[in-house]
Amino acid sequence: MNYNKKSIEDVSVAGKRVLCRCDFNVPTKAGVITSDKRIVAALPTIEYLMDHGAKVILCSHMGKPKGEWKPELSLKVVAQRLSELLGKPVIMAADVVGEDAKAKAAALKDGEVMLLENLRYMKGETKNDPEFAKELASMADLFVNDAFGTAHRAHASTAGVADYLPAVSGYLVQKEVSIMGKALADPERPFVAILGGAKVSDKLNVINNLLEKVDTLIIGGGMAYTFLAAKGCGVGKSLLDEEKIGYCKDMMAKAEAKGVKLLLPIDTVVADAFPDPIDGPVEVETVDSDAIPGDKMGLDIGEKTRALFAGAAKAAKTVVWNGPMGVFENPTLAKGTIAVAQGLAESDAVTIVGGGDSTAACEQLGFADKITHISTGGGASLEFLEGLELPGIACLEDK
Ligand code: 3PG
Repeated sequence: MNYNKKSIEDVSVAGKRVLCRCDFNVPTKAGVITSDKRIVAALPTIEYLMDHGAKVILCSHMGKPKGEWKPELSLKVVAQRLSELLGKPVIMAADVVGEDAKAKAAALKDGEVMLLENLRYMKGETKNDPEFAKELASMADLFVNDAFGTAHRAHASTAGVADYLPAVSGYLVQKEVSIMGKALADPERPFVAILGGAKVSDKLNVINNLLEKVDTLIIGGGMAYTFLAAKGCGVGKSLLDEEKIGYCKDMMAKAEAKGVKLLLPIDTVVADAFPDPIDGPVEVETVDSDAIPGDKMGLDIGEKTRALFAGAAKAAKTVVWNGPMGVFENPTLAKGTIAVAQGLAESDAVTIVGGGDSTAACEQLGFADKITHISTGGGASLEFLEGLELPGIACLEDK
């Protein structure tokens, strides 16, 4: 895929109405934003547009209201936080493409910013309905996509509007694509990828694609047990994707044929059962990964594996990490994920982190500023690592 796309700096924005798609799908609890990371990440583009005299019409989705007007998923909280961060008013529309939004968009002055209501209040958004895309586009002269986290969706506001407006990327999309694109296309070596998370089936294509690129592929987390089973090890009551054992064998053969080092856990933290509640007390012991007792369940990587994985991260020149090494929600079972986060933080390599738990580990431990790039995309960063074409980027104008 060609990532050499025009950006906001390649076009004139002064005096133009600019429809800027952001990913303001931020987590909230009881109506309060619990992480404003995605709003902060969008600021450089919004500030550039405002400073260069654009009339800025921001839009985003939040949650999955599925075409229904769910007040708890209103973007009003985002407008408020954005206004605090910008130190300027953010005009909030009462609808998406209704009378209020259109009137407010028409009345915008140069340098002013407004936010439309949750795009997914409209059924046409996720269906990429051309009529809805056209109506959205009719409010503006230019489309800027800065929603990397939603770039894997072919929705009206992420791709459809580009049929009706000139379309360029914002700074966040540009940054995500250039850092991750370079890591995949032309990495400094050794290039190490660390994958975790519960299921092999969630990362099938990521594993396959990364085996074409990396020098070392590290598999931890729940998905490691299917690989261990494919090697012929008993995994007790650990999570097992039985249907994917054959796939894991194929991937091990591919790694060998390509000369890629494939590292699996060598020791494993086990318990009798999955903790309930998930963050509740749990009694654990550490066993060799090829000797997990039949009545035990692997829930984290052991100490030797932590040193092995963190050491590989430290010795690398490029590291991509996606997915936890164990049950990160439980303090007793978070040590593997923490060790990997620390390994990345202490590495001189270009380090790239994606996925909720891996990102949370880096942030909670205060390592975020020691990581080269923490992606704002969950599903989008995975699809990027799969080598897939992201519709929200493909639709933008080439340079
Ligand atoms: C995300 O949070 O990963 C993006 O905002 C996309 O959200 P979605 O999975 O609901 O499309």
